[in-house]
Amino acid sequence: MYSNFGPLATELERRLAERLGIDAQGLVSVANATVGLAATLSEIGRPGRNLCLLPSWTFCASAHAVLQSGLQPFFVDVDPLTWQLSPAALLALPAEVLDRAAAAMIVGAFGAPVNPLAWDSFGARSGIPVVIDAAAGFDSVVASTVPTVVSLHATKSLPAGEGGFVATADPELGRAIRQRINFGFAGSRTAEVAGMNGKLSEYTAAVGLASLDRWPASRGTWSRLRDGYDKRMRYARPVWFSGGTAQQAWVTATFVLAVPAPVTTIAEELKAAGIDTRRWWQAGCHREPAFEHCGRTDLAATECLAESALGLPFFPDLTEAHMDAVVAELVKHIGPDQQCEAGAVYPSGDRS
Ligand SMILES: Cc1ncc(COP(=O)(O)O)c(C=O)c1O
Repeated sequence: MYSNFGPLATELERRLAERLGIDAQGLVSVANATVGLAATLSEIGRPGRNLCLLPSWTFCASAHAVLQSGLQPFFVDVDPLTWQLSPAALLALPAEVLDRAAAAMIVGAFGAPVNPLAWDSFGARSGIPVVIDAAAGFDSVVASTVPTVVSLHATKSLPAGEGGFVATADPELGRAIRQRINFGFAGSRTAEVAGMNGKLSEYTAAVGLASLDRWPASRGTWSRLRDGYDKRMRYARPVWFSGGTAQQAWVTATFVLAVPAPVTTIAEELKAAGIDTRRWWQAGCHREPAFEHCGRTDLAATECLAESALGLPFFPDLTEAHMDAVVAELVKHIGPDQQCEAGAVYPSGDRS
C-alpha cells in the first residue's frame, strides 16, 4: 500500500495515540499540519460566521489554513511574555468581532506548550470553538478535547520530512476530521461533507516511525543543545528566550531569542561573521501581502517581536565550538538590557 491509511500510517497513529493516552480514533495522521489545521477548522467552525481569530505572530501556514477552510483571518495581538494569545485578549475583542468568529486558532510559539484547559473554558464561555496550532509542539503537546495539530516537517523535533497529526481526546471529533481529510468519505465512497485530500502517505509514515524509534536519543540532543546555549547566555545575560529556561520540561527544534531591535542589523552582522540566522516568522502575518487586507487589533507586541525575534543556528550536529562562536559574536552586538519601541519590556538576565 502507498497511502489511504495503510499499515504504516495506522501504526504511527496507534503509537502516537498511545503516547498521548487517547483513543486511536482521536489521532488522525495528515499530509502536513497546514492541511490538518484547515480540515479541523472546516469541521469545528460555527456555521454562518466568517472569521477565525488567530495571532499574527505565527508562521504564515496558520493563516493559509484559515483561508483554505473558507474563513478570513482576524489577527489578535499576543502576550509579550508568552508570545501567545491569551483568553483574556480574545474575550476583550469588540462584540461585533466575537459574534462573527467561527473559530479561534491558538499557536504554541516555537513549540511552547498551550494550556488546553484554559482554552476549553474559553470555548465554553464564548461559544467559539478552538483549535491549537502546536506545529512545533511534538514534545509539549497534551491530549485534550480541544483539537491540537502537530507538524512532522523536517524542521520539527520529530521529523518525517512532511506530515503531521491532529490529536483530540474526543474520538467523534477525530472521526469527523478523518472524514474531512479523506474527500468527505466515511466508510464508503460517498462525499458526505466537504473534504480534501490530506492523507499521510506510507512513505512519510515510514520515516515518521523511524524518527519515533530514535526519539529518546534525538530528544536528548535537542535538550543538550538548548542547555548549551542557555548556559552561555546566562553568563552573558543578554536576552529572554521564547523557549523558557534550562529547567523547561520540553524540547523544540529551534532556538529563538529576543534581541534588541532592529533584528535585521544583528542578523546582518552575524551573517558577516559567517553565522546564518532565521527570522522564522518574518514581521508577522499581517505584513505578508497575502494577509495585509485582513482585520486585526492593535499589534504592538507582535510588531515588537518582529523587530527582535531571532532564530540562532540549531541543528543536531551543532557543536560546543559552534555555540561558543555564535554566542561570542552575538554578545558583541547586544547590550545587557532591552526595551522595544512598543513599550513591552522583556526580562533580561532574570528569567525566573
Ligand atoms: C506555527 C506553524 N503552523 C503551521 C505550520 C505548518 O506545518 P506544515 O509544514 O506541516 O504544514 C508550521 C510549520 O512550520 C508552523 O510553524
